[in-house]
Amino acid sequence: MTTLKAVRGTRDLLPPETKLWSHIETTAREVFARYGFGEIRTPIFEDTQLFARGVGEETDIVSKEMYTWEDRARAQSEKAQSLTLRPENTAGVVRAYIEHGLGDTGLLQKLFYIGPQFRRERPQKGRYRQFFQIGAEVIGPSSSGSESPLRDAEVLEMLASLLDALPIKGWKLLINSVGSKQDRPRYIETLSAALKPVVGRVCEDCQRRAATNPLRVLDCKVPEDQPIIETLPKIWDSLDADSRAHFEQVCRALDACRVPYEHNHRLVRGLDYYTRTTFEFQHAIGLGAQNALIGGGRYDGLSELIGGPKAPGIGFAIGQDRLALAMGLQLSEEKWSSFEKDIDAYIAPLGEALNAQALALARELRRERLRVELGDGSFKLKKSFETGNKLARAIVLFGEDEAASGILTVKDFSSGEQQKVPRASLAEHLRQLSDKSAAPGNQLLATS
Ligand code: HAM
Repeated sequence: MTTLKAVRGTRDLLPPETKLWSHIETTAREVFARYGFGEIRTPIFEDTQLFARGVGEETDIVSKEMYTWEDRARAQSEKAQSLTLRPENTAGVVRAYIEHGLGDTGLLQKLFYIGPQFRRERPQKGRYRQFFQIGAEVIGPSSSGSESPLRDAEVLEMLASLLDALPIKGWKLLINSVGSKQDRPRYIETLSAALKPVVGRVCEDCQRRAATNPLRVLDCKVPEDQPIIETLPKIWDSLDADSRAHFEQVCRALDACRVPYEHNHRLVRGLDYYTRTTFEFQHAIGLGAQNALIGGGRYDGLSELIGGPKAPGIGFAIGQDRLALAMGLQLSEEKWSSFEKDIDAYIAPLGEALNAQALALARELRRERLRVELGDGSFKLKKSFETGNKLARAIVLFGEDEAASGILTVKDFSSGEQQKVPRASLAEHLRQLSDKSAAPGNQLLATS
């Protein structure tokens, strides 16, 4: 029989990599809390129409990459419905915002999410069919200040702080303005006119985009097309005074808090809902072509597109797979291995008759918040030492003598020292050993 494997473009995440993932999530939650964000969990599948109308029929995501199926009616009272695994979460969050009348509070809604997204892309390093995003949206009626450039700058500053807190080194922030609903048709007209005489000389994809979604031509990565694309009109020249002022205020606020950025005139991004500010955080190390760690922008018209009230907003999504990949590469070999070994003590019962009492000792230590692995009395002493050394920083020998006297033998694997420790001070002793050998978990990453 053939062995079944994870489906192409999906993968299992295993320890110790999952520790890195948890560290990223914990840090993100901590940082988001400092900015007043609350968590939202929306369903993993939605009505296909949500993405068709929200993200845009002409985008690659909707036209080629969605996992869509016809959900048959199971009862007379039900209707068949086209459903789709979410390819992104902004449309879902805005749907929930509308459905629960969150705008009625008059307050700005600040919502974050962590979860899987699905796109049927060609899998490669950093690009998967099931991938994970950590994202957030700031949305509300105009009276809540949701259109203010300050919101854009605050979100960008928060992301810079998050990347620094993880820490991720060597990130680059690119920003641009794709204009308002009024600016866009003006630019598309100018762009289409400029594309007409050159369309025969660009790649096939660009020829198609020139007809269906000309903005996406600016995104083209084909080297031969670059000299032609560089001569195309810039979107900046089609922005009205309000849009320019909005963008300039975002930049000024970023300057004030010294967040470095680069204005990239060609950053248009692949989702149709964007208006005004768009941005991307890139990272050069080890991600190859998939160097976008975070993507986001403003979507002032999205709520209306899916049938809701006017609710301008801005948000982002971090590609968690890519972030973990970049961080993993950043950690040295040595730090990875101490990351792996974060158990404080391995308890070795010396004989099966001591198993039950060893469990009671483990319970005592775990209640003291120590991380403990429990061996088995059937193991030979050599095996206990070998296993303990693989898993933990120290081994606690628990034999007849120790059980009777209440004095335990503890060996610190990093120094090789062996000591007798009374049971009452065992937890404290182990804690000190752990602090000494230092650097597991969060500390490790903070000092990398
Ligand atoms: P996006 O640019 O499509 O934006 O995705 C955001 C990030 O998700 C990307 O920068 C990348 O790191 C990661 N990502 C996307 N596709 C894949 C994939 N196939 N495999 C691995 N990682 C991937 C959005 O999704 C918008 N909803 C962001 C947003 C929120 N805009 C406003 N609010």
